[in-house]
Amino acid sequence: MQADGKPTTTAVVLAAGLGTRMKSDLPKVLHPVAGRPMLGHVLGTLDEIGADHTVVVIGEGMANVEAAAQPHATAVQKDRLGTGHAVLAAREFLAAHPSDDLMVLYGDTPLITAETLSAMLAARRAPAAPGVVVLGFEPADPGPYGRLIVDENGTLEGIVEARDATPEQLAVGLCNSGVMVIDGARALEWLDRIGNDNAKGEYYLTDVVAIARADGRPSAVVRGDADEVLGVNSRVELAEAEAIAQTRLRIRAMESGATLTDPASVFFSWDTQLGRDVSVGPNVVFGPGVRIGDNVEIRAFCHIDGATVASNVIIGPFARLRPGADLSDGVHIGNFVEIKASTLGEGTKVNHLSYVGDSVVGKGVNIGAGTITCNYDGYFKSKTVIEDGAFIGSNTALVAPVTVGSGAITGAGSAIAKNIAAGSLAVTRADQKEIKGWADRFNTRRAREKQAQKDNKD
Ligand code: UD1
Ligand code: MG
Repeated sequence: MQADGKPTTTAVVLAAGLGTRMKSDLPKVLHPVAGRPMLGHVLGTLDEIGADHTVVVIGEGMANVEAAAQPHATAVQKDRLGTGHAVLAAREFLAAHPSDDLMVLYGDTPLITAETLSAMLAARRAPAAPGVVVLGFEPADPGPYGRLIVDENGTLEGIVEARDATPEQLAVGLCNSGVMVIDGARALEWLDRIGNDNAKGEYYLTDVVAIARADGRPSAVVRGDADEVLGVNSRVELAEAEAIAQTRLRIRAMESGATLTDPASVFFSWDTQLGRDVSVGPNVVFGPGVRIGDNVEIRAFCHIDGATVASNVIIGPFARLRPGADLSDGVHIGNFVEIKASTLGEGTKVNHLSYVGDSVVGKGVNIGAGTITCNYDGYFKSKTVIEDGAFIGSNTALVAPVTVGSGAITGAGSAIAKNIAAGSLAVTRADQKEIKGWADRFNTRRAREKQAQKDNKD
């Protein structure tokens, strides 16, 4: 218990699985759902419920999973001898961080919600003080899942793995999600008593229910939604998890005041933040790290990633905001415009066919169609500065590093490689030459030649 009398929770997240069926070089739990590794979702949910200590059980040589688990501890499970064995791989950590409750979660089950975990903790802390609280669900096809054997009072008697079940037990529709909360004061002792005398010859974590019962501690079931406990073992299941996560995120966006014209075609990241009265047209994709203010219109077919957008901004259609794009109030970004690592001041407009990268653009700037900041020389990136109120003519190439002073104008088609003072005009076009009557003479001659060629063929 904490000093304030609040019960404490230690969580173990099992993530030692190789994920063979993913057919991937990346460990399964690092595959992303809504732009975040599956393991990150589980750890984030544990943060939400305020878990006190967390340890992630990983396989040997999974340095990248260890890094993704940071700042949480990891424990290595060398041989995969079953879920009971996997939890005990973290024995040292568990012994060093005793809590009132020991919660077991899975790195490949990313959609579990804080509400469900809180309901499980509440059930564990109810006056009956069940030894174990198991998250049960009723899948469309109970197939290979462990079955929850519940008596007439709703007490959980035990969990039977499908392979070890009798035909009557197999007929039970209530299944084990795998997620459970065990009395922290007894957990290690009970886990140590798990044997491997079963169909798979594995140490089944599920046996902890029968062991607690033998000690006079009944267990309980909290029922969850089948979507929440979807375990990802293949890329098909990864896509299923993605679809569920996207549905949740679309609902969250609409509930917090965004209009989505066609929700099914808008893809969010786990951390997308939208203000009030944001409207998002069809076919818009949000990568991680996007923050959008109030009253922003995002038109169809935009891709927005790592960008910060203030209020009253219009984006798209067909615009791309890349990481570090920072748009102030009232900015307009039009079609086929790409913005990367650039700050745009209030009311600035980039309406057509432009690339603005590594730039600091002031307020009230107008960037004409086809403007390119030439920010890369093949070796280094350089910065472009465009001060307040400047007007960049269409098809200007701004060769960085370069500064356009406030209120300055560049002539259309100019390649600007030198700084421009405030209030100046810079043009690099060659002078226009006009040859009177040339076009008329050219057209007459060529038309005659074409006619002659045709007559010869006939
Ligand atoms: C387990 C449950 C079953 C439940 C099902 C839900 C047991 C004995 N059975 O069965 O009742 O219905 O999950 O999906 O617990 N893992 C390790 N190390 C191991 C073994 C497993 O880290 O040695 C991890 C796996 O990577 C996986 C999870 O634990 O994430 C579950 O293991 P898995 O082998 O899939 O268990 P199931 O047989 O599906
Ligand atoms: Mg499984």
